Amino acid sequence: MNDSYLNFVNSPLGARVARSLGLPKPEVLRRYRADRPEFDGMVAIGAGREPRLLDALADVIAKIGVTSVAHSSAGLWVPLASRHNLLTGRFEAAGHSPQARVAALLFDASGIDDITQLDTAYGFFHDALRSVGTCGRIVVLGRPPETCATPRQWTAQRALEGLTRSLGKEARRGITSNLLYVAPGAESGLEATLRFFMSPRSAYVSGQVVRIEGGAAQATVDAADTVAVPFDWKQPLAGKRAVVTGAARGIGAAIAAALAAEGAHVIGIDMPAVRDALDATLRPLSGTALSFDIAAPEAPAQIATALDENGVDILVHNAGITKDKTIAKMSDSAWHSVIDINLAAQERIDDALLAAGTLRDHGRIVCVSSISGIAGNLGQTNYATSKAGVIGRVQSMAPHLRARGITINAVAPGFIETQMTAKIPLAIREAGRRMNSMSQGGQPVDVAQTIAWLAHPGSASVTGQIVRVCGQSLIGA
Ligand SMILES: NC(=O)c1ccc[n+]([C@@H]2O[C@H](COP(=O)([O-])OP(=O)(O)OC[C@H]3O[C@@H](n4cnc5c(N)ncnc54)[C@H](O)[C@@H]3O)[C@@H](O)[C@H]2O)c1
Repeated sequence: MNDSYLNFVNSPLGARVARSLGLPKPEVLRRYRADRPEFDGMVAIGAGREPRLLDALADVIAKIGVTSVAHSSAGLWVPLASRHNLLTGRFEAAGHSPQARVAALLFDASGIDDITQLDTAYGFFHDALRSVGTCGRIVVLGRPPETCATPRQWTAQRALEGLTRSLGKEARRGITSNLLYVAPGAESGLEATLRFFMSPRSAYVSGQVVRIEGGAAQATVDAADTVAVPFDWKQPLAGKRAVVTGAARGIGAAIAAALAAEGAHVIGIDMPAVRDALDATLRPLSGTALSFDIAAPEAPAQIATALDENGVDILVHNAGITKDKTIAKMSDSAWHSVIDINLAAQERIDDALLAAGTLRDHGRIVCVSSISGIAGNLGQTNYATSKAGVIGRVQSMAPHLRARGITINAVAPGFIETQMTAKIPLAIREAGRRMNSMSQGGQPVDVAQTIAWLAHPGSASVTGQIVRVCGQSLIGA
């Protein structure tokens, strides 16, 4: 759907009107385009005491080919960057005016083990935040508090959440801010996730905390994905088969396109009544269309049969519906159909595909939840119940699927411009659109790119996570 306010205030006349009336001016977000460089510009890196992740960071920076510079509070980075032969200099000394911009700020806080050491983060962001360019990126790296040896360390690491989320709210101008907790021993699993959070692919993902696991999941990455099955960063899903439910339109159609662009063969499922739209989505992707009502009791077994002995590597549970009414006015069928399509059908399909071995080992399950499932929403008891249940499924199934190297995660979209949100009454729609750090709704592609990252072979250490794609919405924050 069209956001006419965003378009207006980004026109020459509208920008003048917004300036003179003091109106908010949402930024036109820079999104990934295959014909533009994904990474460019300078990255400023800072670090707290005894950072553990600088080697891993240096490795990724070198691979993606951006220039790294030391900001005034980034002293620890300088010797390390020099050792890695990265182009480095002091941001202020390299002829950059105070107005010069960096594309990203990365801060390695993994060694901070006491709240007093948070001063280093204060110093870095105090000096550097204003240098981040429009649609820039902030990534803070820490270690999962629950893996810390002492309460003081746990406290300091947990404090990073408040810092990172506040930076997202202060930075504005389409800048995102996210926190990656990297477990000890999980450093080699960082790359796919760091690339995503530094890329325009994460344009509408801000204020999120993602855990990268060590231990068993990490062994899976090394054994199955990174070493045994190397992948091409440009076509990481080449040779993979991906099922997407609700693929005929909206977010599902965007997911199908994003996974196909990464090289996957996409099998799209949708209602028999929308077969033409499903065909229209999948034909240009050379995908396969399957017509099923996923809520029909026989659907899971039929889907497993239709997927035959080739199996699938990626399963995206996207199909969903709303039937909004306050609970006193909600009909029995509105309650049951929403729970059944949005939640119970996912359970039944997973059970069937896992039991039959149709979902291969080292596979990926990605479920579409909603910020309504986190915050609740007036008139959406059925929907919010179903979407909170999706979160429960992800959290409860992740430990069981580890043995097979299968990850399961959820995305929780906020306000995304689709036919579903076009049905919302105007005033509520406008509020939903603006109540986030980006002051605008997201696009289906924002959800799709987040799912493509979770489906990536390099994301084997990310499981049991709920990632909001909501522009850091105030709802459920
Ligand atoms: N649009 C948003 O702002 C938003 C926000 C949060 C979550 N979501 C979730 O994202 C997902 C996609 O939403 P959307 O906005 O693209 O919706 P949409 O209504 O545009 O598309 C949903 C698709 O699912 C299909 N579908 C519905 N019931 C089905 C069934 N029983 N069997 C097979 N297919 C079925 C529909 O035919 C349709 O093609 C949903 O799960 C929704 O709850 C959307």
